Amino acid sequence: MSDKTLVIFGATGDLCRRKLIPALYELFEKQLLPKDFNIIGCSRSDRGRDAWIASLGKYPDEFLNLLDYISADLGSAASLKRIPVGDDNTFFLSVPPDRYGAAIMNLKEAGLVDDSEKSKVIIEKPFGYDLRSAEKLQDIVTTHLREKQVYRIDHYLGKDTVYNILTTRFSNVLLQPLWNRDYIEEVQIFATETIGCEGRSQYYETAGQVRDMLQNHMMQIVALIAMEAPCRLDAKEIRREKVKALSAARLGEKLLTGQYIGYRQEEGVREDSMTPTFVAGDMYIDNWRWKGVPFNFMTGKKLPYQCCEVVIKLKQPTLNLFPGVEQAHQDRIVMWFQPDPHLDIRIDMKSPGIENIVEPATLTHTYPLKGASQGYSKLIYEAIVGDQSNFVHAEEVLESWRVVDNLLCTGQACPVRTTPYLYHPGLWGPVHKTNLITTWDYPC
Ligand code: BG6
Repeated sequence: MSDKTLVIFGATGDLCRRKLIPALYELFEKQLLPKDFNIIGCSRSDRGRDAWIASLGKYPDEFLNLLDYISADLGSAASLKRIPVGDDNTFFLSVPPDRYGAAIMNLKEAGLVDDSEKSKVIIEKPFGYDLRSAEKLQDIVTTHLREKQVYRIDHYLGKDTVYNILTTRFSNVLLQPLWNRDYIEEVQIFATETIGCEGRSQYYETAGQVRDMLQNHMMQIVALIAMEAPCRLDAKEIRREKVKALSAARLGEKLLTGQYIGYRQEEGVREDSMTPTFVAGDMYIDNWRWKGVPFNFMTGKKLPYQCCEVVIKLKQPTLNLFPGVEQAHQDRIVMWFQPDPHLDIRIDMKSPGIENIVEPATLTHTYPLKGASQGYSKLIYEAIVGDQSNFVHAEEVLESWRVVDNLLCTGQACPVRTTPYLYHPGLWGPVHKTNLITTWDYPC
């Protein structure tokens, strides 16, 4: 058996076919897979290797030769013992989240994760369903694994453009002095999509937009924007700073959920579903750097544009010397992650001519897409080589749940109307309410 093995549980699922296998193929093509690497697809179905491979799509034989399939049940330690693992194994749990706990216990019982140097477990989001369930799952993880074996995936952390927040912030002094409450008036974070829940109602009905996007992808972006510079660029230090930023985060009071009209008519959605497909509101980071600066966020399905971006609105100069500048003031730093990633710095300049007129100008850097990582390939590669920098630490995941937990309205008090406001597909959520939160710099 080969040295390094990746075992994918849930191998017959959508994620494996659409994301994991193409990502592995990308690594294969770039010759980034270790020598003698082996990929074992596992699921309960006994369909056999040929049928599994046929279901994955077209790939060259040299790649397919790395793949094997075995029928095994994560719910039974005895069945897991049959997997022909190698010396150094990575187990990818691409299965429904309610199976994570049992999966970890059975991997342990089967003796597959005893060696903390040579076994890892990759866990897909969501890690838990709310703060309480995430804490329970974390108890199981702590009992059976060492944190250094655990790779909690948030695929946004595998996007080059998201990682670029760290590079832009910490490899330049240009932004450094501005990056605080003295110069920043407001931060806006958008993760908006034009698609709906696309046949994923079974999952989405139990998740909704708070669990699907806010608790993970958006909170990670908040952490990267708000964190202090790590003293070293390694997993321990990066994650230490992110945890500190997240620990200081709390939701404000302008919270709002929405649901697009037509969602309830989709297959598998309850007629009276209260699942939010849109969430927006304000968040604060109560520390010396950010106290009082609103981090306004918006994420939703069936909105006018697909876009993930952060807008940093700068304050007015202390003394306005130029007439009209207050009205025209648009000074912003915009980090646009997808699609068409770019960085904009918008500042005021003099209009050409005799009169002293100020007009906005935009300095734009377009981020080159060629060769850019979109998520899974980079993260799978980093997991295989044992770099946890772009994976979510237990404390980060728990702090993120703490922040958004109230919005899930599972307890006594709910800070939003239990019935989400309805909105027409193609609008920015329930706009009559959305626009009360702030003056949004809508992506366009
Ligand atoms: C996933 C969510 O994590 O991220 C989906 O479950 C969402 O609902 C997707 O569509 C967005 O990812 P990306 O990479 O397309 O922005």
